[in-house]
Parts: sequence; structure tokens; C-alpha cells
Amino acid sequence: MTVRALLSLVLLGVSGIAAAAVPAQDALQPHGVQALEIYNLWRLTLLVCTLVFAAVLAAFLYAIWRAPRSRVQLAPDVSSLDQPEPRLRRPVVIGVAVSTLLLIVLIVADFLTDRRLSQLPLKDAVRIEVTGHMWWWGARYLDDEPSRIFSTANEVHVPAGKPVILKLNSADVIHSFWAPSLHGKKDLIPGRTALLQFRVDKPGVYRGQCAEFCGFEHALMAFTVVADPPAQYEAWAARQRLPAPQPATELQKAGLAVFMRSTCAMCHTVAGTDAGARLGPDLTHLASRGMLASGTLPNTREYLAAWILDPQRFKKGTSMPPTPLSAADLNALMAYLETLK
Ligand code: CUA
Repeated sequence: MTVRALLSLVLLGVSGIAAAAVPAQDALQPHGVQALEIYNLWRLTLLVCTLVFAAVLAAFLYAIWRAPRSRVQLAPDVSSLDQPEPRLRRPVVIGVAVSTLLLIVLIVADFLTDRRLSQLPLKDAVRIEVTGHMWWWGARYLDDEPSRIFSTANEVHVPAGKPVILKLNSADVIHSFWAPSLHGKKDLIPGRTALLQFRVDKPGVYRGQCAEFCGFEHALMAFTVVADPPAQYEAWAARQRLPAPQPATELQKAGLAVFMRSTCAMCHTVAGTDAGARLGPDLTHLASRGMLASGTLPNTREYLAAWILDPQRFKKGTSMPPTPLSAADLNALMAYLETLK
């Protein structure tokens, strides 16, 4: 099969994109203590604003209802303009007082929420350095013991019920880390480190999205936060710390050779091989991730092959160049990449 035939097969598949289970990405469905605080503040704000809106609307309708009626054939009656309106002073004073009071209530609630957000107990927190790139997310799991540090990309696993500290920074422009079900937004600013602390209480998959316009493919800069039960998280982290498995079959060995001699190895790391570049996402455990290209495509063989052949087709402007490979080379490369569990 030629590459072109393979590509068209793949694209046939793309046109009927399989609707994968959609993970939670909803600020109105909080799944952590931080998100719950923000949700409660949102509800209070909504309540106050709704009451104010209803009151203003009611006053407006009342004013229309009691206004003097006029007819086209009658001369306009402007006599009321000559009379002072002393009775109005009281409603205006009350209106200003109520508005001021409600604004103060919102400011105090805002302040208290902010305080509670910063009071998350951080004992035994998992520390992850998250770096924004145009347009993907690098994640480096920090540890006091250097041998326990590992890197991954676009899919952040955290233990459910345990605090997480994200150290956010950017490699290029300003991005913003936002997983609406878990916490508010936090900007990633080049040259500065921002901290974001949160806790996920319910195991599950939560989608996040870059929330600061960062260039052409800003909308395709998503990520997933996977909250595992603690034991499962430890098992996942232990697997991520291992280097990539050695290729076992001839086909997989040929695939590794393709990886090393094509442009792949110039940008990506696969721990345990000679590929150690850091321009693109770490691929050591690529096959263990659910999505490709920062939440753009499901991680299946077909999408991965199509992505490698022509990334620009799915994500225009991505710094990954097209990689023209023969069908045999592509097949071998796929066989190898599938071993990166
Ligand atoms: Cu990164 Cu928008």
C-alpha cells in the first residue's frame, strides 16, 4: 500500500471521528475542594446579580406603567419637568445604599474564597512542573530524589484525595492552565514561576484547556488531568519512571531505527534510547496516553500514523514538520511506538 493510499484510508477514518467519552470540563461540576469554593462564589454572585437585575427590571416596568399616556394628536405635556421631584430622593438614596452593600458582600465573599483557596493543606503534595509550549504541555514530576523525577506530556496523572502543587512556567508566550472542574485559571508567564495548588477528590478524567490566546492553535492546546486512586497512581508513576522497553521483534527494531534516522529523534526524547531532544513532547511512554497532539486526536494507530505523516493537516502551524515515510517504514515505526507503554 502506498503512503497516499494509507493516508486516504486514514482520512476516511478521520472524517467519521469516533466520539470518545467526553471528560468533565465544566466549572459548574466541581470535583475538588478548590473548584467547589469557586463554584459557591459563582452561585452567590449569580443570585445577587439575578436579584438586582429583577429589581431593576421591575422598577423599569413600573415606571412605564405609571408614566402619563400621550396621544399623537395632542401636544406633548412637559409640565412635569417644571416640578421638582422631592419624592425621588429617597428611592435614589436607598438604591445607592443597597448597591453599595451588595458590592461589599461580593467583595467580602471574593476575599474569603481567595483565602480559603490558599489554605489547602499541602502535606505530602505531589509536585509537578508544567511548562506551556506552542501548543502543548510538558509535565515534569519533581522529587527530592533525582532518580524518581520523570517527564510526560499533555496528560497529567494525580492521586485522588492528595494535594497537588503545579509549578507553572512557559517556554515561549503566555499560556493559561485551566481545568474548570478542578480549579480556576492560572497564567504561565515566560521567565516567571506561578503556583497552582489543588486537590481532586473523585477519581476520574478531567479535561483542561489553555485559556489565554497564545497563537494560531490556541484552541488545540488541551490537556487531561487523570485522577487515579492513590495505589493506582503509584503504579502509574513507577511505570513512567522506567525507560522505554527495548524493541523485541525485528519490526520493532526496524521502527526504532526509523525513529533515530528520521526527524523524530531531533525533537523528541525516548528514555533508554539515544533520542534525548526536548523540543517536542517526551515520548517515552507515548502509548500509555489517551490523546495525541495535546488533546487534538485520540491516540490510535491510524491517527498517530496520519499525524506523523502530516501534522499540519490537523494542527496548522505546529512546529512538527511532515515526515514523509514509505509504507514499510511507517509500519515499522508504528510497531515500535506501540511498545512505548
Ligand atoms: Cu496556550 Cu492558548
